[in-house]
Amino acid sequence: MTLPAKETGQVATPPPIAMLAELTHRCPLACPYCSNPLELARANEELSTSEWIETFRQAAALGVLHLHLSGGEPASRRDLIDLTKAAVSLGLYTNLITSGLGLTEARVGKLSAAGLDHVQLSIQGTRAPSADHVSGCDGGHARKLSVAGWLRDAGIPLTLNAVCHRRNMGEIEDIISLAVELGARRVEIATVQFHGWAMLNQKALMPTMDQVAKATSIVATMRARLEGVLVIDYVPADYYATYPKACMGGWGRAGFNVTPSGRVLPCHAAETIKHLAFDNVRARPLGEIWYNGGAFNAFRGDGWMPEPCRSCKRKDIDFGGCRCQAMALAGDASATDPVCRKSPRRKDVDRRIIDDTEVRDIEVSDIETPLPPFRYRGNGTLRS
Ligand code: SF4
Ligand code: FES
Repeated sequence: MTLPAKETGQVATPPPIAMLAELTHRCPLACPYCSNPLELARANEELSTSEWIETFRQAAALGVLHLHLSGGEPASRRDLIDLTKAAVSLGLYTNLITSGLGLTEARVGKLSAAGLDHVQLSIQGTRAPSADHVSGCDGGHARKLSVAGWLRDAGIPLTLNAVCHRRNMGEIEDIISLAVELGARRVEIATVQFHGWAMLNQKALMPTMDQVAKATSIVATMRARLEGVLVIDYVPADYYATYPKACMGGWGRAGFNVTPSGRVLPCHAAETIKHLAFDNVRARPLGEIWYNGGAFNAFRGDGWMPEPCRSCKRKDIDFGGCRCQAMALAGDASATDPVCRKSPRRKDVDRRIIDDTEVRDIEVSDIETPLPPFRYRGNGTLRS
């Protein structure tokens, strides 16, 4: 049963549509833009199989329709098949977001039999040497291509995901062509977003203005050429935008993340906002957290907004932008997103970041990456 919208403060809070389950932070890759937090949860802190299934049950009762099984690398969980089966039986649409590492042909077959609806498979580029260099995993790119073949053979719909940055932005046309070749129905090309690890490596990853302009043009051309063949989703570079995007569809409006140890977050980077306290599914029901949790209500409505957001016509479109970006760039999560042209801090973004990017290049050895703390066994599961 779906719970109705509830009144929280000034606005009615709709029920959530999506839940992203970060099943684990374990991952055999070490991408310099990893969305894991800087402090990783250990395997012994992760929710158990039954705790995850109970969380899925509460999510479905709350109104969640889409369950994204993510990580870290979700295939690192030995119970991935059981978790998928349980989610499917609860009527959730299941989407596995994976690097492909840790999937075998047999495991793909079991996921298909479990009813998995969709897979988003990430790549780091189209050229094996540079893609493997970015992920820190020799042979990783070739493995991903094998996984794509197994998914196609199993009939599981595929989206190819690629994070684009200064070092692979010139490969966008090839990435789109590869998606067609692999039989994907959709490709998601997201320019790197600067939180956590990506922020540490910002100068090495920030695309130039010229790269961004070319990428936008290529995407427009390829969209026209591949209409009806491939859906191309493109997330442009935040720092070159005129206005910020409606991050997460607005704070606490459309979905939430659950961390490996059960903390419930309005977005994946919310823990960078240090004054917020996050409830845990081990201690409080999900419905209470969504409607009444302090962190979720911190930036709902417009009561928290400063000017120029509060009187801006776009406040119901972008909701003041990204709170974590405001935290990262302005040191104040309540500030107008500094990438907005109306923000008094926009000129600092231009000067400190974009101007700098145009003149600087960074040695690869300067890049910081999360160390992969786990290695795979031959059967596709992780040693922990
Ligand atoms: Fe969005 Fe605020 Fe900028 Fe208006 S001023 S466009 S609401 S970030
Ligand atoms: Fe947290 Fe945008 S990543 S609000």
